[in-house]
Amino acid sequence: MKLSVATSIRQTDLLAVFCYQDNSLLKNTIEKLRSTYSLPFFDTATHKEFSAKENETLLFYTNDKKNPRLLLVGLGEEKNISPEKIRRAVAAAAKKATALKVHSLALSAITSKELTTEEIACAMSEAILLATYKFDKYISNDNNGKKLRNVTFILQDEKEKKAFERGRHIGESRAHGTIFARDLANAPGNEIYPETLAKTIQALGRKSGFSVTVFDKRKIQALGMGGIIGVSKGSEKEPRFIILEYGKQYKKHGTVVLVGKGVTFDTGGISIKPAANMAEMKMDMSGAAAVAGTFYSIATLKLPRHVIGLIPSVENMPSGSALKPGDIIRHYNGKTSEVDNTDAEGRLILADALSYASKYNPEAVIDLATLTGAVVVALGHVATGMMGNNQQLMDALKEAGEKTYERVWQLPLFDEYEKLIKSDVADVKNVGGRWAGSITAGWFLKKFIGNYKWVHLDIAGTAILETDQEYIPKGGSGVGVRLLTEFLTHWQIS
Ligand code: BES
Ligand code: MN
Ligand code: ZN
Repeated sequence: MKLSVATSIRQTDLLAVFCYQDNSLLKNTIEKLRSTYSLPFFDTATHKEFSAKENETLLFYTNDKKNPRLLLVGLGEEKNISPEKIRRAVAAAAKKATALKVHSLALSAITSKELTTEEIACAMSEAILLATYKFDKYISNDNNGKKLRNVTFILQDEKEKKAFERGRHIGESRAHGTIFARDLANAPGNEIYPETLAKTIQALGRKSGFSVTVFDKRKIQALGMGGIIGVSKGSEKEPRFIILEYGKQYKKHGTVVLVGKGVTFDTGGISIKPAANMAEMKMDMSGAAAVAGTFYSIATLKLPRHVIGLIPSVENMPSGSALKPGDIIRHYNGKTSEVDNTDAEGRLILADALSYASKYNPEAVIDLATLTGAVVVALGHVATGMMGNNQQLMDALKEAGEKTYERVWQLPLFDEYEKLIKSDVADVKNVGGRWAGSITAGWFLKKFIGNYKWVHLDIAGTAILETDQEYIPKGGSGVGVRLLTEFLTHWQIS
């Protein structure tokens, strides 16, 4: 889909005009449209049927052959406008465009005293791309000819063009990073396994300008990453450890490491999962997908910072060679863990990656993982669970979460939880029993972090959706890309 910016409308299949729920503003908009399109019925019908409430839409057919369809889209009250409200309103327009099967769509640029032009342009661009996303690669006759191709933002003022173009670029690169992450998560396990995950990320790196190094099983073994080796043992597919690097020249300003759980399919292993919904576990590499998508965004935006990505990738399978309950493994930093449940595999591979992160002497390390079902019980599909060892870093992520609406919610890592993962035979046990499952998982990770600021994001609920959201269809959401890109854009290393 091509997004462009213009100051007048030439021809479009559908023109969407956004209006605030304010009588005089709405009247003005309608008056303007009425004189442009000579619609005599406009003022009588409109007031009764459309009051510009949030996401309310009203479709008209005009007698202008070049602009045959006109859609009014409500924004609610201007004083309540926000980037999220904009994304949702644009998503409502996108839904109509998709239903009408139009090729071209023009959107009147939203204006607001509360937001900058750049913010508005970013939100509008993100929303149109994210809301029209569909994972249809494997559907044979999916009417490709009937897709929205051209989207034009119509500005009222030529002077706004530069700022709007800037915002469009930011929005587009965040959205495309998110879409890359969605595609990876939604791809089936027979297509995406550690080796192909690494290849896909390598291809992305070549395209967008970051470097990728891949360790194979021998190298992983030689490094002593016993968690990755252990979890991958039951699978025919060999593990990979994928290292991404962007912006080496900014190293002197500090390094941020992003770690993503890359379990390409999680059967649970010998502690096997029930059959119902197991297919969802093809998305157990959503953390890895978010890290890769973020690299796409920051590289295309040319952010001035040094960022390393670490992705331990395995397939968790039961077999005669699989890891068993009771096994004890040794991680990269020499610590041992007792495997009480082979379905708590994510933390075992993250332990290696988090201890490996010390090598970069990072300013901050952020890991993203579809780590626990318990976080879905606690927060549903609305917020990501956050834990960490540095309040300032967590606050910065919280702020990025509000802005992008990829919201995070902090859970405590109180000392009292630590004893739940105490082992009688090893340094730590990989499960903590029935209660506080997300926190004991976080505590397990905490045992493997080095001397750096760290945040753990449990995205099990937000990365995998059971139902559609406004601009996120069910399935892989690509959560984390916009959050981390926003965070990396603004976080000041102290
Ligand atoms: N990948 C799962 C967590 C998960 C569950 C992600 C639901 C998305 C949706 C993880 O590896 C897992 O199996 N966790 C176990 C841990 C338990 C054995 C301590 C869980 O949450 O049940
Ligand atoms: Mn598991
Ligand atoms: Zn898992």
